[in-house]
Amino acid sequence: MPESVLASLQRDLVDFRGRGLSVLEMSHRSPDFMDIAAKAEADLRKLLLVPDDYAVLFMQGGASSQFALTVSNLDINSHVAFADTGYWSKKAIDVARQFTNVSTVVSASTLTCNSASNNKSHCNDAAGNDSMAATPPKLYVPAVEQWADVGAASYLHITDNETIDGVSLNGLPSLSAPLVVDMSSSILSRPIDVSRYGVIYAGAQKNIGPAGITVVIIRKNLLERCAHAKALAPVFNYQRVHDAQSMLNTPPTFAWYAAGLVFEWLLDEGGLDCIAARNERQASWVYSAIDSSEAYINNVHPDNRSIMNIVFSLSKPDRQDEFLEGCKQRGLVGLKGHKAVGGLRASLYNAVPDDAVHALVNYMNEFSEGRGA
Ligand SMILES: Cc1ncc(COP(=O)(O)O)c(C=O)c1O
Repeated sequence: MPESVLASLQRDLVDFRGRGLSVLEMSHRSPDFMDIAAKAEADLRKLLLVPDDYAVLFMQGGASSQFALTVSNLDINSHVAFADTGYWSKKAIDVARQFTNVSTVVSASTLTCNSASNNKSHCNDAAGNDSMAATPPKLYVPAVEQWADVGAASYLHITDNETIDGVSLNGLPSLSAPLVVDMSSSILSRPIDVSRYGVIYAGAQKNIGPAGITVVIIRKNLLERCAHAKALAPVFNYQRVHDAQSMLNTPPTFAWYAAGLVFEWLLDEGGLDCIAARNERQASWVYSAIDSSEAYINNVHPDNRSIMNIVFSLSKPDRQDEFLEGCKQRGLVGLKGHKAVGGLRASLYNAVPDDAVHALVNYMNEFSEGRGA
């Protein structure tokens, strides 16, 4: 989280704006908290240019709860289509299968290449088509034009950014069925056209604020579908949550407040155009360090490289502990890859300052030149 936001939280934890009580102690029905909640929503709408025909819900349960709630609220045809682009899509698919019929319109695949260097080389995709791509084998998501038809699916679920695999979508299909997107690790990293989506959901803990609150942005005409969700607890029914302005029960007030401060910070930083330019710049520094050295491997096709999560490994994996120890000595932490894929991961969420990325890149260069350990 941005340092200035942490400082505000620290101050308001003890005494919220001279009221003599902590933000943690406030009733969610108090005028002060109602103002906090309304301002957070207004600022989020401003940042993402959320159209008026979309509702913004603040829910609990994290993004994982949305894997089920999207199905329970929206699946009017007993069939949901998925783009299977990595770890989190697979999780969402597994959950959806417990409730409904699932089809997959595309799967992330690998391009096999004939050179093991980081230089451009000829690659063959799964269908044997010859194409130019960087280093083998490269994870990629086929272009949206190649995705299968969704048929009578109630909606198509996509994952904008695969946090663990470092894979990002680079296009959106045009469909008559609504698009439901998990944007947990990329929301607010760049401007988006909200009107392309039926539902956008995101757990807070990457670019929004502390864990505990989940943002759901939903086109209001989809709320009608919730009428079929009779067996669902009201706190999980999008229509009921919307009707109660996300206060059907006690909301996670502190996380909501913190999210509001992050939204204010993003606006002060110049909004999402500025944030996107910074994120792209930072990611390009790290990818350049990877691509310019034989010491590092990134196995994602350039078209699908994430700017939030850069997943890479050492060409000599037995030196990984040494690399991480060198990072630690320089105050660079959290670089170990997720246990599902191993290797290394640099997560460049919005609050990461340029200085931290410079420090990482400098160390990567030193390490690859044999000076860094
Ligand atoms: C893309 C994506 N989806 C879903 C999740 C799960 O989020 P939560 O822990 O809030 O359930 C994560 C968590 O990292 C994620 O990155």
